[in-house]
Amino acid sequence: MAEDGQKFLGRLRLGVNIDHVATIRNARGGIHPDPLRAAKIAADAGADGITAHLREDRRHISDEDIDRLVDEIDLPLNLEMAATDEMLEIALRHKPHACCIVPEKREERTTEGGLDVAAQHNHLAKYVGSLGDAGVRVSLFIEANPVQVAVAKALGAEVVEFHTGTYTDAHHAGDVALRDRELAKLVAAGRIAHEQGLEVHYGHGLTFDTVGPVAAIREAMELNIGHFLIGEAIFTGLDAAIRRMRELMDEARA
Ligand code: PXP
Repeated sequence: MAEDGQKFLGRLRLGVNIDHVATIRNARGGIHPDPLRAAKIAADAGADGITAHLREDRRHISDEDIDRLVDEIDLPLNLEMAATDEMLEIALRHKPHACCIVPEKREERTTEGGLDVAAQHNHLAKYVGSLGDAGVRVSLFIEANPVQVAVAKALGAEVVEFHTGTYTDAHHAGDVALRDRELAKLVAAGRIAHEQGLEVHYGHGLTFDTVGPVAAIREAMELNIGHFLIGEAIFTGLDAAIRRMRELMDEARA
């Protein structure tokens, strides 16, 4: 639950990440299940945006998926991308509502940590600047750390998304002390980012069991959730999974 007297800064949006629909499709190399169909179901279930990560190795979402999402989905598209010239060219061609710049390593299973914007300031400046100049909202996916927040602000990003993976992993491992420490960091970083004029998002690894305390963070404006929803869809359907997530977010802010 929210702290007493806490006033939220706005309605918390839910961005549904559909990458892993494409993961299942690609396991057989065909056309089913179609991420575009998932995006349409997400829209009908109340998602506020669609998130898709076009990875350099195209292990899930393809270039054609991005073309079709841009052409056929009315919800805002949040394109997750590495800071590379190839991805910049694709982003500038499509001009999605937002681009979230994420770290990418070919050998990783998923985005394992936040972008070290402090160490990569000079490399990132061109990407943040070019996307911003093209009218694309730029989000930087970072760890909940005041130094990273300050550099994200200095780079000219409009949004920071805090990586919630350590918090969710600690929860699922039963390490309550670590979970609570990580949650406290996510809360504190949200406050600092908001004070600096950044919009605050959170994402990675969120589930029905872990979403509540993150949704209750006063400064949170958007959560991006994918893997759990697509997994849960196997058992209950995607529509029901998204509606339940939305309910839990709303309960946390009630
Ligand atoms: N936000 C960002 C920036 C991500 O890279 C990811 C994973 O692609 C997510 C949110 C969603 O994470 P998950 O699929 O674990 O819910």
